[in-house]
Amino acid sequence: MGELKKEKPKEYYDAIYESSERYALPALGIMFYNTLWLKSVLLALELKPDSIVELGCGPGHFASLLARYLPADFKQYTGIDFSDVSVAQCGEKVSDSRFSFITEDLSSYDFTSHFKGSSLVVSHEFFEHIYFELDLFAKMPSGTPILFSVPSYDDPAHMKYFTSAESVASFYRDQLSFNAIYHIPVGDQFIFLAHAVVK
Ligand SMILES: C[S@@+](CC[C@H](N)C(=O)[O-])C[C@H]1O[C@@H](n2cnc3c(N)ncnc32)[C@H](O)[C@@H]1O
Repeated sequence: MGELKKEKPKEYYDAIYESSERYALPALGIMFYNTLWLKSVLLALELKPDSIVELGCGPGHFASLLARYLPADFKQYTGIDFSDVSVAQCGEKVSDSRFSFITEDLSSYDFTSHFKGSSLVVSHEFFEHIYFELDLFAKMPSGTPILFSVPSYDDPAHMKYFTSAESVASFYRDQLSFNAIYHIPVGDQFIFLAHAVVK
């Protein structure tokens, strides 16, 4: 039997964010991900949350789009990532007093302390990097809406990937009820963007 892959440490991501020319681009300049983030912004706007907590927020591309499009009565966004290089880059992208970014390891951090009013959880391209996302769902109150994406392709840092939208819904069926799963093309592969609710 093959050995389980090990989750990458924060230094792995720090090094990528320090050197990547792709991640240094603004959100709309990053092919494929720009479509993912814009679709997710539209879904988030439809849900009209008071607050948003983003898990594994990376260098703040999605937050930068949210800051542009969220209405004036939106209250609070919190982005969380264990890479302090990425969190520093978030601060350079977004200067909106309703937005804060914090460096924490989500395997142990109580992110629900940032829930305020009706809260939406967002997480793009993070759950495939970890094994503990079911523990994250268990921390969220029943009825919490969540937008998340996972890919159809492997990578050295991916602990899992999915062959279809149905396999995403089936993998998380005990924890989440699915409203919709969208296909975001990435060349001849896909990112699956799910709109679900915690059971
Ligand atoms: C592929 S990136 C996605 C970043 C961003 N969501 C995006 O859409 O570009 C995965 C992110 O998960 C973060 N991450 C991985 N393990 C983590 C953990 N245990 N706690 C917090 N963040 C973690 C990494 O630092 C990285 O920024």
